[in-house]
Amino acid sequence: MTRMRLYVNIDHVATVRQARRTDEPDPVAAAALAEAAGADGITAHLREDRRHMQDHDIERLAVSVRTLLNLELALSEDIVALACRLRPFQVTLVPERREEVTTEGGLDLGHDPTRLGAVIGRLTEAGIRVSLFVDPTIESVERSRALGVPALELHTGRYAHRWPASDAALAEIVAAARRARELGMAVHAGHGLTYRNVTPVAAIPELEELNIGHSIVSRSIATGIGPATAEMRRLVDAARVTN
Ligand code: PXP
Repeated sequence: MTRMRLYVNIDHVATVRQARRTDEPDPVAAAALAEAAGADGITAHLREDRRHMQDHDIERLAVSVRTLLNLELALSEDIVALACRLRPFQVTLVPERREEVTTEGGLDLGHDPTRLGAVIGRLTEAGIRVSLFVDPTIESVERSRALGVPALELHTGRYAHRWPASDAALAEIVAAARRARELGMAVHAGHGLTYRNVTPVAAIPELEELNIGHSIVSRSIATGIGPATAEMRRLVDAARVTN
């Protein structure tokens, strides 16, 4: 079986920075560390409300990512224009609602297919691979195929939410992934995947790429706060020794 690609979503590194509107932690530096540790790609979502990633982050990622950059965006004119200018390797189109805490469902492919088709056309014309973030249903897969995209990302939120009683949700993902492969599309998956629930999804042979963000950033804090505290302890103590 081929190796699953792991894309690390670094949005929440920027969430912590935006809590103080300072320059740390830097999501671009975090991206480089994730790449050095084995990430196959970096994912970032430039939201309309700019709650975490900022335009200048995306500009810097576009030139600094050494693996592949997957930019998530909604159908927002200025962000689509930014993507066409920066030309990341891949754009994943996602739905966005201002009041949501995170991307809560897949794209509504029946809502405005003309507009969606036009954006897919512009991005493709710019040389960008386009993927659609959709719910894991046969209908979403077939509609994505009709829109002519080479890839789609199955929303694993329902699976994650129901974990560990998530067999039915896992079966939906498997069925949707099989249908997408039959139709010749590349299949990605993501949302809500954690160190506890990732294994059954990572084992689905039809999937070739996972996007994981919150859990990896959370784990970084959990594993990093000890050494970070020890470093500050040393500095504070050293000040008393020398003065
Ligand atoms: N895939 C898509 C399309 C997303 O919008 C997100 C969240 O930004 C993720 C994957 C990653 O989700 P999580 O942060 O829960 O791992």
